[in-house]
Amino acid sequence: MERTFVMVKPDGVQRGLIGKILQRIEEKGFKIAAMKMTLMPVEKAKEHYAEHVGKKFYQDLVDFITSGPSVSLVVEGRGAISAMRKLNGATNPADAAPGTLRGDFGIETGRNVVHGSDSAASAAREIALHFSDAEIASYKRIDEAWLYE
Ligand code: RTP
Ligand code: MG
Repeated sequence: MERTFVMVKPDGVQRGLIGKILQRIEEKGFKIAAMKMTLMPVEKAKEHYAEHVGKKFYQDLVDFITSGPSVSLVVEGRGAISAMRKLNGATNPADAAPGTLRGDFGIETGRNVVHGSDSAASAAREIALHFSDAEIASYKRIDEAWLYE
């Protein structure tokens, strides 16, 4: 089954939104395959956001993402990469639709509460960067027969 890397960013943790965000992911029907809270080391943050090196917001982004604990997740389910991007909403919360996490919980781009991998290649890279194989659980949810045809 498809896996994606999702993060509750430091603003989501500080604002007490971990539970609500996890609830939305679980209610959708996706499986939490791995989860941990860390204070992301600067080197790991730079690697995570390597695609943005040289952009004007890069340093602020690395500073922000390492400014407090974040919650890293591996989310699993059919179409999980694209569906989590939709659930997160547009990068700028001002453009994110109501009902999305950023639309409901955010105001500005640099404080947009959640991260989600943008492609299969990014998901594989980000999952390997943040989790070891042993940290990712394989198990069956009891409602799978009611989620998938
Ligand atoms: P994410 O990687 O966090 O899931 O967000 P995304 O794909 O929607 O957006 P991306 O282009 O990958 O940008 C990564 C994060 O950088 C911050 N950002 N700031 N000030 C700006 O113009 C700007 N653009 C992006 C956002 O926090 C964004 O989530
Ligand atoms: Mg991105």
